Amino acid sequence: MGPAELPFLKDAPMTGRTRLFPLNENNLRDTLKEAAAIINDRGLVAFPTETVYGLGANALDAKAVRAIFEAKGRPADNPLIVHISSKQQCCKLARNIPEKAFKLMDKFWPGPLTLILERQEIVPDVTTGGLDTVALRMPDNEIALGLIRVSGQPLAAPSANLSGKPSPTTAQHVISDLWGRIDAVIDGGTVEIGLESTVIDMTLPVPAILRPGRISLEDIEKEIGSITTGYLDGNQPESAAVRSPGMKYTHYAPDATVILIEGASTSVVHRIQEMLKTYGLEEVKVGLLLTDESNMDIYHDEQLSLGSKDKPAELAFNLFSGLRSLDARDVDIILVDGSFSHHGIGAAVSNRIRKAASSIIKV
Ligand code: TXA
Ligand code: MG
Repeated sequence: MGPAELPFLKDAPMTGRTRLFPLNENNLRDTLKEAAAIINDRGLVAFPTETVYGLGANALDAKAVRAIFEAKGRPADNPLIVHISSKQQCCKLARNIPEKAFKLMDKFWPGPLTLILERQEIVPDVTTGGLDTVALRMPDNEIALGLIRVSGQPLAAPSANLSGKPSPTTAQHVISDLWGRIDAVIDGGTVEIGLESTVIDMTLPVPAILRPGRISLEDIEKEIGSITTGYLDGNQPESAAVRSPGMKYTHYAPDATVILIEGASTSVVHRIQEMLKTYGLEEVKVGLLLTDESNMDIYHDEQLSLGSKDKPAELAFNLFSGLRSLDARDVDIILVDGSFSHHGIGAAVSNRIRKAASSIIKV
């Protein structure tokens, strides 16, 4: 199906600028060649990674990278992750790389872990948001790695959404946000993980997680010993230090007010039912983001489940697409069931929901 036939594109600006590359088992080589040519022509190509879709440009070309910020409407002080395909590229982009960072690369790359390191001069200011550090990651996805290899360039790539929207987990999400604003989208289907990489600052005496992801604090401590967390989590005081510029922005600000209800499953269900009664009287339109368990006990017209509360990887996989689909239903308030396990990637799911929530109720 060509882009013109996709129903959600009806209202999108059709500048004719964006090319869609649908992948099949026969056209990977040719697609990568064409997409790499666009990168080398200073263009923007959206591509899948194992976490979310990225919007890539040559990380060493300031003009190309500037176009990423324009296409996304992203604040200029929010630095980008540089994606590489081999560990050798690290030394060209970063210096004074600590031994512990090499250990993490050996264990987790390719994979959903981003390392903050001291930058080399070759990395332009626009890529690092003017910081003296650079974020590096080797994605675990053949299309992403292929694009880096064939273009011969490290790729600066933020998530391929409009700034303030949930990260895209399908090519359709990218198309509905960025069609007409970028040069190409490689459609590699739905991503595997659905939540962005763990970001860890390796330039500190004690490394700090700046953004939680599927690779947890415990996973990392097993390799390099004690680390710490340096991210704000929704209800912490605003004065707390923020080292990762991206974490100070609301990652997702739907028009609806998001209220997170945390506690044991039965208490959360009870509270949601009470709130539905009250909102019903006030004629407020409510959407529910539930777990499989609470979904069985609640009957409401706008509700969807992210998965079992004991399977946080499932919740992570469905979170962003769930937010996108509730948003499309024009609700005033979204109540989120926070009774899920915060173990492993559950901590990252909680982090993303807390950042979207305007209040958190504990029951
Ligand atoms: O999974 C991912 O990481 C995806 C895929 C495409 O790789 N990318 C992604 O990029 O999520 P983005 O731009 O949406 O998020 C990058 C995060 C931001 O919070 C940013 O502030 C932080 O990494 N970051 C980048 N460079 C940094 C630096 N030098 N120091 C501190 N934080 C940095
Ligand atoms: Mg992002």
